[in-house]
Amino acid sequence: MNKIILADNLEYLKTIPDGYVDLIYTDVPFNSKKVQKRNKIKAEISETGLEGFGGNRYSRNTTGQYGSYNDNFDDYIKFLRPRMIEVYRVLKDTGSFYLHIDYRECAYVKVMLDEIFGRDNFRSELIWSFDFGGISRNNWTNKHNNILFYVKNKKHYTFNFDAIPRIPYLAPGLAGKEKAAKGKIVKSVFWHTIVGTNSKEKQGYATQKPIAILKPFIEVSSNPGDLVLDPFAGAGSLGEACGELNRQFIMIDNNPQAFEIMKKRLSKYNIQTSQ
Ligand SMILES: C[S@@+](CC[C@H](N)C(=O)[O-])C[C@H]1O[C@@H](n2cnc3c(N)ncnc32)[C@H](O)[C@@H]1O
Repeated sequence: MNKIILADNLEYLKTIPDGYVDLIYTDVPFNSKKVQKRNKIKAEISETGLEGFGGNRYSRNTTGQYGSYNDNFDDYIKFLRPRMIEVYRVLKDTGSFYLHIDYRECAYVKVMLDEIFGRDNFRSELIWSFDFGGISRNNWTNKHNNILFYVKNKKHYTFNFDAIPRIPYLAPGLAGKEKAAKGKIVKSVFWHTIVGTNSKEKQGYATQKPIAILKPFIEVSSNPGDLVLDPFAGAGSLGEACGELNRQFIMIDNNPQAFEIMKKRLSKYNIQTSQ
């Protein structure tokens, strides 16, 4: 049975038995110091607007807001640490943990997770590179997120090498015919677009992640039927990816808007909800 939980994740995590979950992926708040929100925009014909479809002029008006949450923490590590201690506790001995973050808090979170998981159990830092939105005129434009990959026990953990996605070689002529046909495995840096404004996948939730970037973590670090947890689940992107890949899931979020989106989005799977 899959679960969608409306709760503070610290409280709910405490109810999960030790070593219960095969895989944990979570996309934590980034401490961006702002309210993460998506405005609902309606384009209306207006004489003063910009020229658009059919030769008409359109203005863009904000009509409300989609799922939003406050992403501002006075002491971020103090907030995260007890939750990460629970994450470590509920993970199986063969389990893996992927923590999705950005450049602002990544270094501090890495030091904390090294303490909790043991530095030896840190396996890799993956970089998701995307390319959308504004650019900075006074800084290098940040268009990547960091995903810290830990295992509970580096001596034995699920890692399905053959499930790593393959992409075309940059110079297939140098690789030889057979290798070029197979493609090269994705390494620790990968490119993928964000969830597009017109995408079918879009739930209108601030900071929603594309399921295509999550699926490889699930396929490589778990097996069909395994139980996967996301304690900061947002619009439930990980649940959607798990459903499609035949894994069971537990999704937790303390935002009622996220809970409503997940209930609707994941209703096609066998779900139990609790609040
Ligand atoms: C970066 S978003 C996750 C987005 C998600 N990966 C998706 O694709 O939609 C972080 C989420 O953490 C939730 N959150 C923040 N503090 C929480 C807490 N103490 N317990 C549970 N959820 C929390 C927020 O409501 C927000 O939905």
